[in-house]
Amino acid sequence: MEVEQPPKKVPGAAGAKLRKAWAILSAMIASVVLLAAAYAAYRLLPNRAVSYADIEEHFKYGSTGGEVNLGIPYWIWQAAPMVCAESLTEVADGRLAPDYLTRAAAYMSDAAGAAEARRQLSREGYKALGLVYEHDSSGQEHDLPAGISKRRYLGVDRVFLNCAACHAGTVRKTPDDPAVLVLGMPAHRFNFYAFEHFFFQCAGHRRFSKRDLIPEIQALGGDLSWIDRYGVYPAAIARMRERGQWLASRLGFSYRQPQWGPGRGDSFSHAKDLLNMPWEHLPDWRTQGKVDPRSLGTADFPSIWLQGPRRKRSDGREMELHWDGNNDRGKERHLSAVISTGVLPPSIDHQALCRIESWLLDFTPRNYDDFFPIDNALAYRGAPLYRRYCADCHGLNGHDFTGRRVGFVTPIDEIGTDRFRLDNFTEDLAVNLATVFAGQARQPCSADFGASGSQTTAGAGGGGRLAAVQAEEENTYRWTHFHKTHGYANLPLDGIWLRAPYLHNGSVPSLRDLLEPNNNRPAVFYRGNDVYDPQNVGFRSDLPEADGKKFFTFDTRIPGNGNQGHEGPEYGTELSADKKDALLEYLKTF
Ligand code: HEC
Ligand code: HEC
Repeated sequence: MEVEQPPKKVPGAAGAKLRKAWAILSAMIASVVLLAAAYAAYRLLPNRAVSYADIEEHFKYGSTGGEVNLGIPYWIWQAAPMVCAESLTEVADGRLAPDYLTRAAAYMSDAAGAAEARRQLSREGYKALGLVYEHDSSGQEHDLPAGISKRRYLGVDRVFLNCAACHAGTVRKTPDDPAVLVLGMPAHRFNFYAFEHFFFQCAGHRRFSKRDLIPEIQALGGDLSWIDRYGVYPAAIARMRERGQWLASRLGFSYRQPQWGPGRGDSFSHAKDLLNMPWEHLPDWRTQGKVDPRSLGTADFPSIWLQGPRRKRSDGREMELHWDGNNDRGKERHLSAVISTGVLPPSIDHQALCRIESWLLDFTPRNYDDFFPIDNALAYRGAPLYRRYCADCHGLNGHDFTGRRVGFVTPIDEIGTDRFRLDNFTEDLAVNLATVFAGQARQPCSADFGASGSQTTAGAGGGGRLAAVQAEEENTYRWTHFHKTHGYANLPLDGIWLRAPYLHNGSVPSLRDLLEPNNNRPAVFYRGNDVYDPQNVGFRSDLPEADGKKFFTFDTRIPGNGNQGHEGPEYGTELSADKKDALLEYLKTF
């Protein structure tokens, strides 16, 4: 039987035309898709930091990778103090001019307002958080403050904190003198608490939307391209809104703590949170007026000069540092420092960090006598007192850190200072920190070579096993030296005149006060003034405000702020007044 076959398609003129048209159309679609993909790749793939040949510029404005994780799109950064002026007023705690809100509101309702005046208002906002803007040679302020770096990632220029935010500060000789930015000293004016809370609150504010932000960005001179305006920035705003709220709930522990005030931060509580250690049931300072000792670790930003000599102490090992001496490896302290810039382990820019580490090995503080005279005869009389009472724990002088106990930990019962920061770093945390970089292969860095020029583990000897452990340590970023201690570290005093207020919690305003027994130290003082007080050796701490802006009231009676300890005959607090004068004068030479 014959089965009828379906008629075969005969290539006809109409069919050929159709196929040709189809081929052209597919080619066109393919090329559009390809072009779009190429454009997207060009826009989105580069992960490029702005880099600086000069190391000091690199320290102030260069990136160590923080923007990849938490980066704030550049134009959102510029617009935030205007759009979120209300949040800013809440967190700035009297550091903003009282009419800031009104001025910001006036600009917001006038999209045509001059771009430069708006940017100035935006900078004024960040200055209230203690950030410092440098001027270029023509006297114009930079667009970003020192301590904020920029990187292009996922198609947008993003900015975030770098080391200088917390480790560079200003000094003024008198209120009429310009502020001098000194690198490596504690950022005693930067209010990290207010900074964090500003972005948490701003990202959750109803005005943090494309409707309010995009026009302000344009008015600031953003000149966004069509794609940025309708694609990239709206997506970035939505993402930041979501992330900001997530972070606020995640890192919200600080809401339950007393305010840190300028120049301080709580490094290890952040670490606990990121490692999912429990917080939920701890008391809330604001409502209950008490805090759990483990939930508060507020510490002063330390100075970071002369890291090289810190790699050796009297027993030949490296110094145990961080305030409580919880880590005796310089490179591990640096790697944990970089986490403070908001970076997560995979996005650390190790080469950029390495440049900073290498530079810090022998970077020295500014001299006191660049600013004020030193009475050399008086200082000369102070030197033997220092050698007798202090050198064993603090080193021979401001650059030679030789001393039997330098870089060792003095037990808390002996030193007697506030214990919160110590208790905040728990055994559990030390163990957990060892997991963070597990297995991540290490890239060579010139700072792995100690000040002496030899690799820190060189000549390890000690047989095959130890050598193998040390070799492995060299090959991974894994933290292997965090440990629980039971006191505070005997630290070198280089540049000590710039490190006020003193002690790990910044509870003693001046060196003169530190040489007084606890009862004579001020119970309440003001932090955040950069005008220097050569008489007492520290920053002016007696003024509640200047130019209509309030300084932070530091109350030593609040948990974590105790100013006791480091007192008694061996700490110089019972010396006669003229001996104290001589010792103080000598400390100015450090
Ligand atoms: C958000 C603020 C912040 C940022 C940003 C920051 N640090 Fe720190 N840094 C601190 C605080 C706070 C401590 C004290 C930690 C402690 O012991 O409690 C510290 C400690 C250190 C120490 C140890 C000092 C010592 O002798 O005990 C070094 C070194 C250091 N930081 C270097 C850096 C470097 C390098 C960067 C940039 C990659 C950086 N920090 C970024 C806040 C910061
Ligand atoms: C037994 C060891 C020891 C002796 C002796 C000692 N100190 Fe200290 N010093 C410490 C420790 C530990 C700390 C950190 C305590 C803290 O922050 O809670 C410290 C902190 C300091 C600080 C604050 C550092 C900063 O960056 O805030 C200064 C300044 C200081 N000592 C000066 C002196 C002087 C001056 C003498 C001698 C009159 C002296 N110390 C004697 C152990 C000692």
